[in-house]
Amino acid sequence: MILEPLLNLFHLSLHFLHYITGVSLPATTGPNKVGTYDFFITDTTRNDVFAPTHEYRRILMTLYYPTTPTYTDFQHSEYMTAVVAAYYESSYDLPGGTIKRITTNSYYGAPLKSRNVKLILLSTGFGMSRYVYATLAEDLASHGYMVAALDATYDSPVVEFPDGKVAVANIPENTTMEEGTRYYDERVKDAVFAVKSLSTASLTSVIPGVGAKGLKVEGVGMLGHSLGGAAAADAMAAEDSILGGVNLDGSLSGSTATNDLEKPFILLGGEGHNRTNDETWKGFWDSPSKGWRRELSLKGAAHLTFSDYAPLIEVLGLKHLFPEETIEELVGTIGGLRAMTIQRVYLRAFFDKVLANCKGKLFDEAAPAYPEISFI
Ligand SMILES: *[C@@H]1O[C@H](CO)[C@@H](O)[C@H](O)[C@H]1NC(C)=O
Ligand SMILES: *[C@@H]1O[C@H](CO)[C@@H](O)[C@H](O)[C@H]1NC(C)=O
Repeated sequence: MILEPLLNLFHLSLHFLHYITGVSLPATTGPNKVGTYDFFITDTTRNDVFAPTHEYRRILMTLYYPTTPTYTDFQHSEYMTAVVAAYYESSYDLPGGTIKRITTNSYYGAPLKSRNVKLILLSTGFGMSRYVYATLAEDLASHGYMVAALDATYDSPVVEFPDGKVAVANIPENTTMEEGTRYYDERVKDAVFAVKSLSTASLTSVIPGVGAKGLKVEGVGMLGHSLGGAAAADAMAAEDSILGGVNLDGSLSGSTATNDLEKPFILLGGEGHNRTNDETWKGFWDSPSKGWRRELSLKGAAHLTFSDYAPLIEVLGLKHLFPEETIEELVGTIGGLRAMTIQRVYLRAFFDKVLANCKGKLFDEAAPAYPEISFI
């Protein structure tokens, strides 16, 4: 008899423990709940130049998309798998279990709301995982887009394929420009192949809720961080169906650093990264392109402000684990949640413009609500 109140107390404290230790990614702002699904493709037209056994190039991506009310039948998507979480925890010396505390806003395997999609490819920074852009991807999906966040096989830290095989990054230490270019070239090919695959009914019918007719892609855009931002420009040049792109703080590479890109493109840089000190951005800007373009600067942002690092350092309360200078070097001074609010608004406005023909005013001039953004 006396046991029961004790048990209740026990449950209550467990609940409380969960409450204080669990954290959520920033809530999405759109009207849709979000589903996710890992989509795996193999490009049999090329061997993987980085794979020890030179098998066909394999590409794994997470799809984020609007789902139906039956999302409640599904579990929250895990933020990242245990293997990738262990990699991040050991590289940043975080207490074990830190990443497991993170809850996403999405539901794994929940059915797609409609097979007609506006698609946004997402290419990661060099050596980064597709998982660490969930804050941006979930939000775009909540506003109706399908985001395909691509891992870059052998450059993203650990890629766990659905067949159980694992590709561990083999980026050389102190990567030279020339070596970096090899990884870059494969990413551009990956993006182009991903667009083709996501437009192939026989491949996409496995995506939950899609059905035998497959996805109907009604427009494609691309977004990338760092090396992935550069890849967005080159993928647009290589693939006609990619209509516009955003480069988050990445120096350009390949042909687009100097050549025309006749399609809408945005350079969004951290504080002090702009075309006065980045020759590749200057080259792009000075090219005779007639494509619509903007160069924006986010005050107080550093290079990794354009990833989940920024909000997660804040919500997980990790600041005290590192010297202040380290935090500033990684994610700047803007504050991670604020930085994400702004990136979400500008990214969505761009894709609404390019893929949904919306005529917002956000790119005409500085907006009083977002004084951290300046036009350069
Ligand atoms: C990489 O650079 C660091 C710092 O300059 C140096 O100590 C290290 O030996 C280099 N590694 C290789 C493999 O060249
Ligand atoms: C552009 O970058 C330079 C060099 O870092 C910096 O001095 C300048 O303030 C930046 N411009 C703007 C408008 O942020």
